[in-house]
Amino acid sequence: MWHTAGKGMRGEDSTPADFACDVMLEHIPNLPSFDIIDPCAGAGGPIPFLEPALNRKLRDGGAAPVRFVMSDLWPSLERWAAISHRSEHITRKPGKKECRIYNLCFHHFDDPDAQLVLRSAIESSDTFVIFEMTNRTLTAFLNTTFLMLSPFLTTLVWFRNFPLHIFFTNVIPLVPLMFAVDGYVSCIRGRTNRELEELLRRQKDLDLSVWEFSSGETKVLPPFGVMYWYVGVKKGD
Ligand SMILES: C[S@@+](CC[C@H](N)C(=O)[O-])C[C@H]1O[C@@H](n2cnc3c(N)ncnc32)[C@H](O)[C@@H]1O
Repeated sequence: MWHTAGKGMRGEDSTPADFACDVMLEHIPNLPSFDIIDPCAGAGGPIPFLEPALNRKLRDGGAAPVRFVMSDLWPSLERWAAISHRSEHITRKPGKKECRIYNLCFHHFDDPDAQLVLRSAIESSDTFVIFEMTNRTLTAFLNTTFLMLSPFLTTLVWFRNFPLHIFFTNVIPLVPLMFAVDGYVSCIRGRTNRELEELLRRQKDLDLSVWEFSSGETKVLPPFGVMYWYVGVKKGD
C-alpha cells in the first residue's frame, strides 16, 4: 500500500510513502540530525520505500541522508538483513538523536501500554511520529472493506499463474477473511489524533513543556484511505 499511487498533502499525485516523508520533512526541523528508529518494524513495513524516498528528497534539497534502524518485539532478522543489504542508510546501530517512527502499529498497544510508549518517547527520544490508517471512523471502515474486497480482482490479474493464490482467494476466501479480521480489529483498536493527544495529556507528571505537537489527516488513497499522522518534536533540538 505504501507505494500505491495516491494523493499528497496538497492533492498532488503521490504515494503514501512520499506523503509520510513530506510530513516528516515539514514538521521535524533539521531531520538529518536524527536517526529514525522504527520500534515496531515487523518485516520492514514501509522502510524500504521510506528510506530511498526520504533520502532522495533530502539529497535534492542539498541535505545529508538520514539512517533508519529497525526493531520489533518479534525481530525479522533475515528480512532486515536483506533490506539493509540494499541500502547503506538502513543500519542496526543508532548514533544520532532519536526520531521514533510508528508505522501502522500504534493500535497494537492498549491504553496502559500506549501511555508507556508515549512516556518513553517523551522521556528518552527527541522526536516521534505516528502514522495510522485505521480507527473508529466511517472512512476507515469503508477503506478496510475496500481493501478486503480488492484481492478478489487483483489476484486474478497479478497472480493468474498461481492456482493456490486463486484457490485461497476466489474459491475459499481465506485471504480476504484475513484482511477483514486484521483490518476491522485494527479499526476498532485504532485511535484518532485527539485520542492520542488525550493519552499524553492525562499523564499529569509528564513534562510536555519542551515539546511541540502537530497532527493531521489526509486522504492519501482515494476514495477512502485516510492517513492520520501525529508528530511530537522536542523544542530546541
Ligand atoms: C501491524 S504490524 C506493523 C509492522 C510494520 N510497521 C508495517 O508497517 O508493516 C505491528 C508490529 O508491531 C509489533 N509489535 C507489537 N507489539 C510490540 C511491542 N510491544 N514492542 C515492539 N513491537 C511490537 C509486532 O510484532 C508487529 O511486527
